Amino acid sequence: MSQLSTRHLLGIKDLTSADIQLILDTAENFKEVINRPIKKVPSLRDITIANIFFENSTRTRLSFELAEKRLSADVVNFSSSNSSVKKGETLVDTVNNILSMKVDMVVMRHSSPGAPHFLARNVKANIVNAGDGTHEHPTQALLDAFSMREKLGDLQGKKVAIIGDILHSRVALSNIFCLQKLGAEIMVCGPITLLPKHIESLGVKVELDVRKALAWCDVANVLRIQLERQQIKYFPSLREYSLYYGINKKMLQELDKEIVVMHPGPINRGVELASDVADSDHAIILQQVENGVAVRMAVLYLLAGVKA
Ligand code: CP
Repeated sequence: MSQLSTRHLLGIKDLTSADIQLILDTAENFKEVINRPIKKVPSLRDITIANIFFENSTRTRLSFELAEKRLSADVVNFSSSNSSVKKGETLVDTVNNILSMKVDMVVMRHSSPGAPHFLARNVKANIVNAGDGTHEHPTQALLDAFSMREKLGDLQGKKVAIIGDILHSRVALSNIFCLQKLGAEIMVCGPITLLPKHIESLGVKVELDVRKALAWCDVANVLRIQLERQQIKYFPSLREYSLYYGINKKMLQELDKEIVVMHPGPINRGVELASDVADSDHAIILQQVENGVAVRMAVLYLLAGVKA
């Protein structure tokens, strides 16, 4: 297979296992490209891409922009904070105005779950979801899978524990869909208040004790406590959260094996991860960021090849 089954990347849920394998294999080629002295290829020379971000981002926005520039696309960036959205313009009007300037692809982050799906139904460009509220963050899951595969080989049968604020996490859902399609076993772990009701219906194991989760897994993908999405108190204090769910070096030393520690960023240092883990050889957090550029190059390159 050399083509994706979809012309948008809205969520991992819509991708086939073959789509995911194709993206990861293509990303391996682009990783080689971005480590060359000349990091650029002409693949998207005739394509114009708009990155429109209605929510804050460091990694995803820079990573998409670099990926686009490494592929020689023309790039425009839009953030809602200094735009006419502030004057009341609707999402579709905003995007149609951007598209009338002959934009071919839109990469969008939005706080509302389903916003990129809505856009895909209403505008002509290829849409890439760069994170929609608490729903999905497909390119994060793809770069996580790429990073795990790079470290551990084939993910069939590998055990991945997703630890932390699962309830508010789009990374958790996309990781679950992506890793299951690659044959991995998934466990979610966190305080009961931060686990969605009926999460086991997705075919994941549920564990409340972080030490047991660490003892079970090959990879711990640790998630941020998303205070900005929490309207009520889900746990008494960050200090207490850190005491029961924070991962430190001593906990890893007590295991009878080496595990890989991941985090999508941004990290709350000293809350979900101690610095002696985040900065250790166990963690591949910065490799994840590096791999994000190659994976996003693969996604954009492959989507550009799927015609409407
Ligand atoms: N991992 C991630 O989405 O980070 P940003 O919010 O900085 O883009």
